[in-house]
Amino acid sequence: MPTRSINPFASNPSPNASILDPPSEKKNVRRSSLSKTNNRFTSFFSTSPKSKASDPAFQAALAAQQRALRNSPSPSINVSTLSLPTISLSTATGEKAMEDRTTTIFQPPSPEEARRIARQHAQFGPLGSQTHRYSSRFTGGEFPEPIEDEPPYFFLLTTYISYLILIIFGHVRDFFGKRFRKNYYQHLMERNGYAPLNSDFDNFYVRRLKMRINDCFNRPTTGVPGRYITLLDRTSNDGFYNFQFTGTTTETLNMSSYNYLGFAQSEGPCADAVEATVKKYGISTVSSRGDVGTTDLHLEVEDCIAKFVGKPASMVFSMGFVTNAVAFPALMGKGCLIISDELNHSSIRFGARLSGAMIEMFKHNDMQDLERLLREVISQGQPRTHRPWKKILVAVEGLYSMEGTMCNLPGLVELKKKYKFSLYVDEAHSVGALGPKGRGVCDYFGIDPAEVDILMGTLTKSFGANGGYIAADKPIIDKLRATNAGTMFGESPTPPVLMQILSALKIITGELSPGQGEERLQRLAFNSRYLRLGLKRLGFIVVGHDDSPIIPLMLYNPAKMPAFSHQMLKRKISVVVVGYPATPLVSSRARFCVSAAHTKDDLDRMLTACNEIGNEVQLKFSSGIAGGAEPLPDGLTNEMEKEIRREMEATGKKPSVTPPRWKLEDVIKSGVQDVKVPLR
Ligand SMILES: Cc1ncc(COP(=O)(O)O)c(C=O)c1O
Repeated sequence: MPTRSINPFASNPSPNASILDPPSEKKNVRRSSLSKTNNRFTSFFSTSPKSKASDPAFQAALAAQQRALRNSPSPSINVSTLSLPTISLSTATGEKAMEDRTTTIFQPPSPEEARRIARQHAQFGPLGSQTHRYSSRFTGGEFPEPIEDEPPYFFLLTTYISYLILIIFGHVRDFFGKRFRKNYYQHLMERNGYAPLNSDFDNFYVRRLKMRINDCFNRPTTGVPGRYITLLDRTSNDGFYNFQFTGTTTETLNMSSYNYLGFAQSEGPCADAVEATVKKYGISTVSSRGDVGTTDLHLEVEDCIAKFVGKPASMVFSMGFVTNAVAFPALMGKGCLIISDELNHSSIRFGARLSGAMIEMFKHNDMQDLERLLREVISQGQPRTHRPWKKILVAVEGLYSMEGTMCNLPGLVELKKKYKFSLYVDEAHSVGALGPKGRGVCDYFGIDPAEVDILMGTLTKSFGANGGYIAADKPIIDKLRATNAGTMFGESPTPPVLMQILSALKIITGELSPGQGEERLQRLAFNSRYLRLGLKRLGFIVVGHDDSPIIPLMLYNPAKMPAFSHQMLKRKISVVVVGYPATPLVSSRARFCVSAAHTKDDLDRMLTACNEIGNEVQLKFSSGIAGGAEPLPDGLTNEMEKEIRREMEATGKKPSVTPPRWKLEDVIKSGVQDVKVPLR
């Protein structure tokens, strides 16, 4: 009997078990039918594949499975490990069943059951092998800055030229359009003495650049954004200004949602708990937290979050963005200084600006630049008066969502001890996604959470829920409760959402469905490293740290954004492409979000698609300095290699670097072992 992987829905009847180990009453029914027909031949045929195949229920189940297989946009790589029970079907055929008919325990799933399993696996894929797990943690030593590779100058030059052409054409069209096609430009021009709310300059970028590739963004979807995501097909006949739905849908592999731990599910322990909560609490508290919107669920969730992240107290908000937007004004004000990483999320910038504190920025993750800035601002004090700052708060993110880089927490903690500032870490993308226990960057680096003053996080990503939290010492949380505008004037987090957070947290910690949380964490860690290593080896420039589940693949040229997105969609894969202003002008990219819900087959399918598109669209231009090299010969470690390189550089020799251009088969063949050693 082939045993399948650990079932991610352990508290539910296992889908595999239901196929492979049918309920006992079914077996009884089967035996009694056999015993009724004592004739050897009759019973022989009654268990033979032919008679099974002619059974309408079996036919229906088989058809449902085949339909599900066809609908599941699976890669050509390896169907055998895919989610549907093809292995089980084999037990119903061949001589074995003929020889020993009474021991055939296979029962084909009913069409309804087959559909349920297909739906379940479309949300969370089954683990193909126990080797597809890894535990992510910082291994010590100096925190490595990711090496930034650059494309050949030709690609940079053509990128600038592309933008230049787009901008020139845009201005020429605006110039003539405003004079000769006034109807189309009315909303951009002054009318009856009223200034236009949208001036042509304000939205030039949107009209002349984004709209040209607008079909790559905001694709409407339906259903659960799990392992697969279903897109509502649409067309446009006016240059993507308006879309019409065709009435059809396309199921695509989902590499675009922040569903790190795969909790975006419509069934399983979380969904069951949420359903029960709706029955008990309804949908909304219909009040702000400051009034009567605090239920026992709020208090329980806050307690759980505080314990999970290792802080004495925490507070939840109904939106991650709002958490930052209201926390900074509640904690900082005039005479205070906020030092922000230049790539911090807009919610941090927004909150910092609202607070009225002075804001300074340091280069992304650059501890030397931060130290230089700290020395300057501390020595100079407040502007004009030169009084000491009332408070200094350094704000960073745990994991940067456009770069895939982690903050240098060891470096920050060291500087904090030296310069005595407070530290605010936004763990929107790192909580749940990093560390052997999924507790974020402190867990990943093995640093005591007490070293960080404020741990902020969102519940939208790893927990498949909604909202944000602040975790800190109790006096800070007490002050926050009393003074932040979100609590006083905003809506309270809703009970079903709170239950989703609570049940996801309990699964991660192992209180609920023991083993499932650990499996999710380890699958995410494996998947992240596997895809990143594969892309590097194929020759792509990917940025960020090796353990990051966010994998940006650099495209550079603006025209490559729609080309990449369309080609991926053609292969039924949904990806997010990002360009200016979310990134610097020349750094357009595709951003893959890896999930625990993905299987290795899914990632091989991604690698296959990227490999083909990379050749077609010319994206394989890594120089090799950022990784993807051949494995080291036995006995040589990464450290030894680095030392040899250093020695060569010291003696004036330039160590050679070969651009990695591995064959896809080799990438897939060696990936599983190679992700478990330091990547190179
Ligand atoms: C770093 C960071 N902070 C805050 C937020 C806002 O969170 P939410 O989307 O839950 O409102 C995001 C959203 O992506 C984020 O990336």
